[in-house]
Amino acid sequence: MDFPMFHLDWLNDRFLIAVIAILHVFINHGLAVGFIPYITWLEQKGVSMASANQITNLEWDNLVYKKMKVAFIITTTIGAMTGVGIWFSVALVSPASIGSLIRVFYWAWFIEWLVFVTEVVLILIYFLTWKNSNTSLKAKLRHINFGWYLSIFSWITMAIIVAILGFMMDPGNWNNEQTLLNGFTNPIYLPQLLFRTPTAMLVAGVFGMLLTTIFAKRGTEMRAKAIKFAGQWILAWIPLVIIGAIYYWNVMPSAMKENMATAIGSQDFAEYYNLLKYFIIGAASLSVVLAGFALLKPKKINFAYVIVPCLFVFGFLGIFERVREFIRKPYVIGNYMYSNLLREEDYPLYKRDGILKYATYTSVTEITEENKVQAGKDVFMNLCSRCHTVNPQGVNSIVYVFERMYGIGQPLDEGSMKAYIPNMHNGRTYMPPYAGNEQELDALVAYIKQIQQTGESLEGVQTAGVEVNPLNNAVEVSKRNEAKKIENDTKIAKN
Ligand code: HEC
Repeated sequence: MDFPMFHLDWLNDRFLIAVIAILHVFINHGLAVGFIPYITWLEQKGVSMASANQITNLEWDNLVYKKMKVAFIITTTIGAMTGVGIWFSVALVSPASIGSLIRVFYWAWFIEWLVFVTEVVLILIYFLTWKNSNTSLKAKLRHINFGWYLSIFSWITMAIIVAILGFMMDPGNWNNEQTLLNGFTNPIYLPQLLFRTPTAMLVAGVFGMLLTTIFAKRGTEMRAKAIKFAGQWILAWIPLVIIGAIYYWNVMPSAMKENMATAIGSQDFAEYYNLLKYFIIGAASLSVVLAGFALLKPKKINFAYVIVPCLFVFGFLGIFERVREFIRKPYVIGNYMYSNLLREEDYPLYKRDGILKYATYTSVTEITEENKVQAGKDVFMNLCSRCHTVNPQGVNSIVYVFERMYGIGQPLDEGSMKAYIPNMHNGRTYMPPYAGNEQELDALVAYIKQIQQTGESLEGVQTAGVEVNPLNNAVEVSKRNEAKKIENDTKIAKN
């Protein structure tokens, strides 16, 4: 409520973040954290495969270089842009939560930034000096070392960010003692890191095999060898993926019980959760089959064999992120801030006085019969718009979700809606409890009723502009200060 509300009334605000973030995770895990050590390992193989008078097997080295070129181009363009994109989209859609996270993780993020800048410098060195390093063995070995340094720095950036992701799901005892260390060592951190690390390696291995089928000529010994190595790499990491998944799996439900008002969780969550389970099992078994096939019959492997497991491992990564997002609902930061950006501890105040009085950006603070619908719009913007759209064609549109309950196309009944909203968090545990007072509930219901009739949409501040709370504009504040001053002066005069 302290920030103007950006809103996309068709795409849904959360969707904007999700698309950018998931794309970023694909690239970060599959083409950086997992891929760089895989490439460096292969580069090293080239040196050991070289004949006596060679520094490295040049043909092999060129194949590995081509794969690295793909990773270099994608990570430094889409990878970097989606990384910044997460900041932009989150700052627009969820400024209060990112503000809280920055306060808690300031130094962690500062260090992450230094590590990231180092990573960028290292990837430039690693890729751009590749060909020149093939002139002497010493230069080549130094180049390979740069590959390992780059691998370590890529991993550290992920290791820091994962702490923040774990914190949002379950801050552990941070709510009692709000320190960086407490936030960093949250209960989900280690399991998530131990799961993501081998998963990144697995995704990289499968993607690497796919690139081999594109870049290496069919039927050649070199291609068979490269496919075999990818098979070895995948098989080596799979057991750790499975151990990590089981470990992580076991902490997830306990975090869910902590965060959800009812311990059973919601139907929708169970569906995603099961989907993830099948995707993990599917992706792991498909990868094992692929890797086994690659070791036994490397010459048979072609693009068509690899593409399905490849889509599966990326799909599994995507669903994993979806579940991670879902699990922390109704909170954006577990037991601290709800997904509507209101802090849990402020709720009693909002319930007593209403939210509009405290909102920085609203056009109404005193609700009357005339401004009721406008007030309802402000209430909706503050309490529902992070997850619902107004536009009838929008994703998770508010009229649609109500009509789905009470009958599609039927006129919505104000009484039923009024009875439902204050209890919505009980049946649908992913929704935060309603925060406002009775009058604001009336206004909200009147607004929803009106949009059902008009089919209008809701403009965010990016197009509608901002309206400052009338209680907080300069004139009002100076009036209040003046009144206070007079009050103080009379007190002094009396004394
Ligand atoms: C944290 C995100 C979030 C917030 C905030 C939120 N909702 Fe929801 N709401 C959802 C999701 C997710 C669904 C489920 C959509 C689906 O099943 O397709 C939903 C479903 C609903 C439903 C249908 C429930 C059912 O049983 O089918 C109603 C009604 C609803 N929301 C009203 C509201 C109102 C009113 C507000 C604001 C006071 C609000 N929601 C705030 C996420 C949210």
